[in-house]
Amino acid sequence: AEALKIGVAGLGTVGAAVVQLLSKHGGQIARKAGRAVTVTAVSARDRSRDRGFDASGFEWFTDPVEMAEKADIDIFVELIGGDNGPAEDSVRAALKRGIHVVTANKALLARHGVDLAGLAEANKACLNYEAAVAGGIPIVKTLRESMAGNDVSRIYGILNGTCNYILTRMEADGISFEDCLADAQRLGYAEADPTFDIEGNDTAHKLAILTSLAFGTKIASDDIYLEGITSITTADIQAADELGFRIKLLGVAQRTETGIEQRVHPTMVPKSSAIARIDGVLNAVAVDGDFVGEVILVGPGAGGNATASSVVADIADIARGDETPVLGMPAEDLKDYQRARMRMH
Ligand code: NDP
Ligand code: HSE
Repeated sequence: AEALKIGVAGLGTVGAAVVQLLSKHGGQIARKAGRAVTVTAVSARDRSRDRGFDASGFEWFTDPVEMAEKADIDIFVELIGGDNGPAEDSVRAALKRGIHVVTANKALLARHGVDLAGLAEANKACLNYEAAVAGGIPIVKTLRESMAGNDVSRIYGILNGTCNYILTRMEADGISFEDCLADAQRLGYAEADPTFDIEGNDTAHKLAILTSLAFGTKIASDDIYLEGITSITTADIQAADELGFRIKLLGVAQRTETGIEQRVHPTMVPKSSAIARIDGVLNAVAVDGDFVGEVILVGPGAGGNATASSVVADIADIARGDETPVLGMPAEDLKDYQRARMRMH
């Protein structure tokens, strides 16, 4: 078969790493997926910027929507960010043409995921988003495919690399919150607007997607109780330490008798627990399935290369011909979300 043609929209931390990964490992991906993939088009605002690779062989679009509407591509890879504007418009334009979409954009999916899933299904296109939750950890595949035979009762974890990096370094090195955040930005972990990380919104976006996948419900990101890490001080971290705890920003979703409970907040976790030992940019996701028991996945939650690993896995799945429904089942079969009467503990 002919090589699948890829258009990459967004050549920042993640987009540039995706182009580099495909250039380095294109041969093995073709052998594993049974079909070659090749980048033919790219899009970013500033054409003069050095991206760490030679972009002269690609068709260049300054406007990602134009690329989605006009480029001769089979897969549109959205790595721009934002829950509206060019990210949303270009994804919709690609899906309407029946072009497969791969995205790392959890904000977009948290807001429009069910609608976009319906659009993808109506146009017989894939919409893959492994990179949108917990960066390099294959948690979407785990829920959509590997754990499909389980009823999930609870899913929780550390879902934001920037916050975990900040909390870890404040504790280990006594560095101020602001300096830790600046380092996370320099390392490419943080969102374009880092308040999404530190106020907990990014964790909430990811939790909302996981909740839908785990419980077969429509995405309900507005329902999440939300508290970020901006008020955590080095003194809080030291006090927790003296009591035998570490502070982690957790996202938790669980089934209760009255519905589903979703919450994001800093949590004191016993130092002896597995979650307390997840340091730096690492994320961890724990899922309780009724047949398998508890599954815990740990890995890098942010950063260009780790995230590119997930984006390329999604591209390989499309090359392989995988047609798993976007949210694990057809969008029209998702149940209405029923909110639990909240108990904080
Ligand atoms: P960056 O800010 O590094 O890159 C964004 C890219 O999009 C840039 O190339 C930029 O162009 C382009 N862009 C931004 N706005 C526009 C616009 N209005 N029109 C055209 N192009 C535009 O972001 P990241 O690579 O860090 O993140 C990309 C996506 O991946 C986001 O959805 C993010 O949430 C998600 N993500 C990021 C992770 C990470 O670790 N960084 C991990 C997991 C997901 P230019 O370069 O010319 O400015
Ligand atoms: N800003 C996000 C984080 C990127 O720090 O986890 C990965 O989604």
